[in-house]
Formats: sequence, structure tokens, C-alpha cells
Amino acid sequence: MRDKIFKKNTDLVDFVFDKQVADVFDDMVNRSVPGYQTLIEMMGLIVKTYGKDNSNYYDLGSSTGAISMALGLNNVHKNNKIIAVDNAIEMVNKCKANLSKKLSNFDVICSDINKINFENASIVVLNLTMQFIEVEKRQQLVENIFNGLVVGGVLIVSEKIHFDSKEKQKQITSLHTDFKRANGYSELEISQKRQSIENVLITDNIEKHIERLNNAGFASSICHFQCLNFASFLAVK
Ligand SMILES: C[S@@+](CC[C@H](N)C(=O)[O-])C[C@H]1O[C@@H](n2cnc3c(N)ncnc32)[C@H](O)[C@@H]1O
Repeated sequence: MRDKIFKKNTDLVDFVFDKQVADVFDDMVNRSVPGYQTLIEMMGLIVKTYGKDNSNYYDLGSSTGAISMALGLNNVHKNNKIIAVDNAIEMVNKCKANLSKKLSNFDVICSDINKINFENASIVVLNLTMQFIEVEKRQQLVENIFNGLVVGGVLIVSEKIHFDSKEKQKQITSLHTDFKRANGYSELEISQKRQSIENVLITDNIEKHIERLNNAGFASSICHFQCLNFASFLAVK
């Protein structure tokens, strides 16, 4: 369904992942996040390389299940369970409905990801989710994930990022706005979405992401993807 949430002038409230967002989420994310499809496609490579037999794959902040689906459809390993977690019930329902069309080895859990006890994981993915977690809880979350990963397992964190240089921030934000215009969003939609999300989506810079992963103890942490103000990090335990 086409995203028209901010098409008309509305009384702006903080952005929430409610039913109206869940209904249009796939369209919204594809038209708003440069490189989103590449991030999803990368899961196919990552699951082949880093997945292990008899282990769990976690998709945290799973929304409608695109990451879980990519992990499941490209999996070449034996005896794996995909555990998708989201705290928005409308997303959980959509995720269950989507995954059950093509996969059987999954659980979809409605929970705060900060409360999950990660176990026997070879792959954990936070695709565009860390940015919605309270800043002061992010290090602990990464440490919880690290503790639940097997040696050689990976955490993938994909995020909107910011730049400390005002000039670079302005330049990249301008290109991102062009990207949204090119995908059919009007000036009103772009401006209203920005205002609605600015207190809810809190970005880090690339250095902070790498520092957090290193602090948690990952043996190797790299930025493996960047498109404008979106980046993805691959950390190996
Ligand atoms: C931008 S979406 C993620 C997109 C999805 N991973 C994908 O690749 O299509 C962010 C999701 O994180 C969920 N979320 C935000 N905070 C959460 C939390 N503390 N625990 C669980 N889910 C959370 C939201 O409900 C939303 O569905």
C-alpha cells in the first residue's frame, strides 16, 4: 500500500509504529532509505558465509519481516531457527503473516529487544532499529547480543547516521531529500515526516558505532556499506 501518511497537513505527533505505519511500511522504507534493497540482499551473502548449523538467527525490530525472509530463503545451513522480535503488535502480526507464506523455522516475538536473552546465535541483525533505542541503552544491548553469539558469529547493524562536519551533514541531507523527492514524496510530506521523527530517531556517527562494537569485544568491526546517510556495520565475534 502507498505511503500517504504525511500527504495532508496534520497535527504532528511523535512518529510511532502503529497500524497506519505497518500498513504502508514496505513502501515507506523503500522510498525513504537509499540502499534498502541492497541491505536486504546482503543478508543472502551473510547467512551463507556466517550462518552455522544448529544455531539461531535473530532479526531485531523485524517490522514486516524482510530481513527474516532474506535469511530464511537464502539459508544453506541445518537446524536453524529465525527469531524475529518487534515491540509493535501490528508489525508482529504482519511479520507472522508474511513469513508463514514461505518459511516454517521461525518465531515472531512481541517484545522489547532490550529484554531478550540471546542464545546460541550465529547471526543477529539490527536493520534500522538501533536508531530507535534509547541512546543510554545501546551499549548494553550490543553487549547482550555479543554474549549470546557463538564465536565467529556476526552482528549486523544498519542505521541512518550523521556527520560531525556541518558542511558534510548539509550536503548529504540535501541529497537524501532529493532521493525522497525522486521517489514521489512532496515537500510537505518530507517536512512533516522529518518533524514527526526527529525526537524518536536518534542517529550516531560512524565512529560511535564502531566504538560501541569494539567496546563490546567484537574481534572485527567494519562499515561494509554506505549510501548517503545510511551505513551498515558488520561485527564478527
Ligand atoms: C525502521 S523499522 C526496522 C525495519 C526492519 N528491520 C526492516 O529491515 O525492514 C524499526 C522497527 O523497530 C521496532 N522497534 C523499535 N524499538 C523497539 C524495541 N525497543 N524493541 C523491539 N522493537 C523495536 C519498531 O516497532 C519497528 O518495527
